[in-house]
Amino acid sequence: MRVPSFTPFCPLTDTPPFAQRLLSWWDEHGRHDLPWQHPRTPFRVWVSEIMLQQTQVTTVIPYFERFVQQLPDLEALAQAPLDDVLALWSGLGYYARARNLHQAARICLEQHQGELPDNAETLSALPGIGQSTANAIISQAHDLPATVLDGNVRRVLARHSAVSGWPGKTAIHRELWQIAQGHLPARRGADYTQAIMDLGATLCTRSRPGCDRCPVQMDCAAHIADAVERYPAPKPKVNVREHVLFMLIAERDNGDILLERRPAAGIWGGLWCLPSADNREDLAAQYGLSHEALEMLDEVEHRLTHRLMRIRPLVAREIPASDKVKCQPDQAWHGRRQWKKLGLPRPVTDLLVRHTRGDDP
Ligand code: ADE
Repeated sequence: MRVPSFTPFCPLTDTPPFAQRLLSWWDEHGRHDLPWQHPRTPFRVWVSEIMLQQTQVTTVIPYFERFVQQLPDLEALAQAPLDDVLALWSGLGYYARARNLHQAARICLEQHQGELPDNAETLSALPGIGQSTANAIISQAHDLPATVLDGNVRRVLARHSAVSGWPGKTAIHRELWQIAQGHLPARRGADYTQAIMDLGATLCTRSRPGCDRCPVQMDCAAHIADAVERYPAPKPKVNVREHVLFMLIAERDNGDILLERRPAAGIWGGLWCLPSADNREDLAAQYGLSHEALEMLDEVEHRLTHRLMRIRPLVAREIPASDKVKCQPDQAWHGRRQWKKLGLPRPVTDLLVRHTRGDDP
């Protein structure tokens, strides 16, 4: 493991290094009663770090407690059915995290003698564990100094060193990573990780930061320049284009809905979708439906990274099963129980759920 550099005392001001001031602050004001700290085992730290990706501490705590009560160690997790793991995760969101956690536990059982790897490189080869998460686990589970750079830490360091530029950019991320590495203390690795995360979560907050109580305020470049709110730079805005899309909810008298599979390439590749066109007339003509047979429902917005889709649903009801609404080779009529099990894009599921609400579930 790399030996971290150690920031020496400043001979002019005698200001203790960043890490030392942070640790002294944390001893007095930090969070010491988080459930994964008692006991701070590798398994518990791992589960907590995965839950804490994209989720706040207060939300995570009850989920964490329930999870480790039912699945107290790596073997129990690996041997549990995935459905049980997902049920324990239910409500926490981002379910890929639960699937990855479960898969990683199985890999550990098969390839790492049932233990979580004790080095960041092997850990980060497991599903769901990036470089920062791997280091957060190593530092806390083994009390070693290791660089972490989650959203809170990025904010602290971008301000303290006045790093301009959006931290999602590779060059800025690298710069912040180096700064984070330079601040690592030689000892108290676990406490330091928790301390810098706590500082970001409780004092160096996005809005209305508590600079007057901050232990690293005296050399915080953003604070000195009275420009704390300028850091970190926000994600650059992308040009969002609007696109109106008409979607056909063609419903047979038996409740079946016409769906088509999207081509593998492009948006929603391979998913089942409602037939769609850029204008109402084309859609009606394509399916041999009269203009009057189509009822327009309220528009639904769906945001993609570079596009805002305005979806205008058109309903054609009670199409007799004998009717020759054209059905292409990549299209099929699906009953409610069937389409609920298919992979559908989110706005299509929402539309169909809303449209068929009140039907038999
Ligand atoms: N976010 C990620 N890890 C965390 C931790 N250990 N404490 C608080 N917030 C976190």
